[in-house]
Amino acid sequence: MSKQKRIAIITSGGDAPGMNPAIRAITLKALKCNFQVIGYYCGYNGLIDEHYTELTTRHVNDIIHRGGTIIKSARCPAMHTESGLLQAANSLRKCHVDSLIVIGGDGSFKGAEALAKHWSGQIIGIPGTIDNDINGTDATIGFYTAIDTALGCIDKIRDTAQAFERTFVVEVMGRDCGIIAMEAGLASGAEQIICKELIDDEQLFLDKLKEDVALSLANDAAHSYVLVMAEHSLSISAQELAEQLKTHTGVDSRSAILGYVQRGGAPVAGDRILATQLGIEAVKHVKLGHTGIMIGVENGQVKTTKLADTSDTHARNIDFVAKLKEYRL
Ligand code: F6P
Repeated sequence: MSKQKRIAIITSGGDAPGMNPAIRAITLKALKCNFQVIGYYCGYNGLIDEHYTELTTRHVNDIIHRGGTIIKSARCPAMHTESGLLQAANSLRKCHVDSLIVIGGDGSFKGAEALAKHWSGQIIGIPGTIDNDINGTDATIGFYTAIDTALGCIDKIRDTAQAFERTFVVEVMGRDCGIIAMEAGLASGAEQIICKELIDDEQLFLDKLKEDVALSLANDAAHSYVLVMAEHSLSISAQELAEQLKTHTGVDSRSAILGYVQRGGAPVAGDRILATQLGIEAVKHVKLGHTGIMIGVENGQVKTTKLADTSDTHARNIDFVAKLKEYRL
């Protein structure tokens, strides 16, 4: 029998559908390995405040289908300070934690790296964010659900766009990453997709965009026209863009910001399966004594990436843009 370890889990940063299935998988697998599991509440804040709960089968047997996270999530500005990091490290020592599993995104992994300078236990990352902006995995937990949610909303907006012959600018989340916009745009057959990855010069981009929309509407007056726009992709808001399009084309234009609906709801099968796979693999790596890594899945294969390399998304952005250019009609 392997040495009994004590594993702590946090869910950190923006909550994502699939975090609960990941907590479930880690807990059930760890208990099978005869490990103990605790969950700190509210991300790194729980570490600093020593606020945690033991996790057992009873806590996780009915959560695979639930959005959000049973141990709550939060951002934690204190992790950017030396005193916050020291408090977090002390709390882990006090609680006799051997291994910390961080389910979160880029900011959470940066926090994990900083913490590793003050605490010698194992740290394993699991990518959990709707943004899908992490190097070392094809998808992050929550992304598949967010896309489906965005898609459902865009399809509904299309109905009004069609009925009223209106142009719609629909803003989706993604922080600084346009992958939600690209995938939801592809899946919904959006006439335009707007995201930073596609823009070199904003003014040129906007001028061309307005011309393209005007031309398309002039050629087909009964056309519904949907632009899917990633948040933070332009210096103007979705509403301002809709107003400019209306002025330029003479066609009634509206905007809709999808916002937090994309973070909520029951995780779709893809997220539940990914979360289960990554949770189980994380415990295997705990057992092997590994640290400083994130577990991901690329091309169907489980792989590990150093936490320090998870924010280098340059290559995967190029792949996503190439896919978009190839397959958009
Ligand atoms: O990282 C997930 C995310 O929902 C981003 O898409 C968005 O930009 C951000 O979080 C919003 O963060 P908050 O909920 O802290 O305002």
